[in-house]
Amino acid sequence: MTEPSPSARRGQDLRPVALITGASRGVGAAVARALAPSHDLLLGGRDTAALAALAAELPGSRPWPIELTDTVEVVEATGGIDRLDALVHSAAVVAPGTVADTKAAVWRRHFDVNVVAVAELTRLLLPALRAACGRVVILNPGTDLRGQPGWASLVACSQALSGFAEVLRAEEGPRVRVTSIHAGHLGAPAEPDAVLRPESIAGAVLLSVTAPDDAVLSDMVLHPAARTTSDPFAVVDRETSDFRRTLPAQHAATVERGSVRTGEQR
Ligand SMILES: NC(=O)c1ccc[n+]([C@@H]2O[C@H](COP(=O)([O-])OP(=O)(O)OC[C@H]3O[C@@H](n4cnc5c(N)ncnc54)[C@H](OP(=O)(O)O)[C@@H]3O)[C@@H](O)[C@H]2O)c1
Repeated sequence: MTEPSPSARRGQDLRPVALITGASRGVGAAVARALAPSHDLLLGGRDTAALAALAAELPGSRPWPIELTDTVEVVEATGGIDRLDALVHSAAVVAPGTVADTKAAVWRRHFDVNVVAVAELTRLLLPALRAACGRVVILNPGTDLRGQPGWASLVACSQALSGFAEVLRAEEGPRVRVTSIHAGHLGAPAEPDAVLRPESIAGAVLLSVTAPDDAVLSDMVLHPAARTTSDPFAVVDRETSDFRRTLPAQHAATVERGSVRTGEQR
């Protein structure tokens, strides 16, 4: 029997199911709050206390604790999922570093989390996504990262993710619809127009997973309202060579713990 389309399923009162990686904080948590009214949620992440707190806040959600680079764990965790309406890739590790500074271990770790884990999780969930005519949303840091000095692994991962999304769309569309969201820099509330709020990126995710069945939002670019420059890191002081002095406090939350020093930590 053919699976009902997403809109037909909505007519049958079956709530769609979404899996969000990186749901324990930041953009992923905001995406969970945005999708909770319309979706049952699997909340992916490693911080089990944060996942449990979010699940308690959002009816119809449950923690999906996972170390995304552990392939055995990922195979086991995806084993019971046979229908998935939306897969939102929000887990990531980010740290500044020039080509001269970035060592192999950092390149491997960043590609492992930001690219390989995205590809492997998607691969394992493709049967469930095909069964539901599901949506895949890939969050991509920055709006135009070509050749951004000082962010070598971030730029490389971002371009790899863009290529991955294009191939996935060509191979699995139109049954599985793929959206790449390229978003500018998040920041502290003190800079309301110069940076984005996680909720703004979450709104774009909601739009892409609830797009009409005859449409796919393939690429979305979100700039902060008052900063339409293509340089997503314009808030970083170019006078400093190591990015430490003016890195916005909020940005520390987007950086893998312990791998970067903020202004306060100098
Ligand atoms: N921050 C920005 O300025 C910005 C701008 C545009 C787009 N984005 C994109 O939005 C997404 C989320 O960014 P964010 O700022 O919300 O990040 P964040 O606050 O640093 O959160 C990262 C999330 O990824 C999870 N994660 C990291 N490594 C993992 C691993 N090995 N296994 C499982 N989960 C792992 C973390 O889980 P635990 O905490 O549970 O360990 C956490 O939930 C990223 O794709 C980023 O590129 C960010």
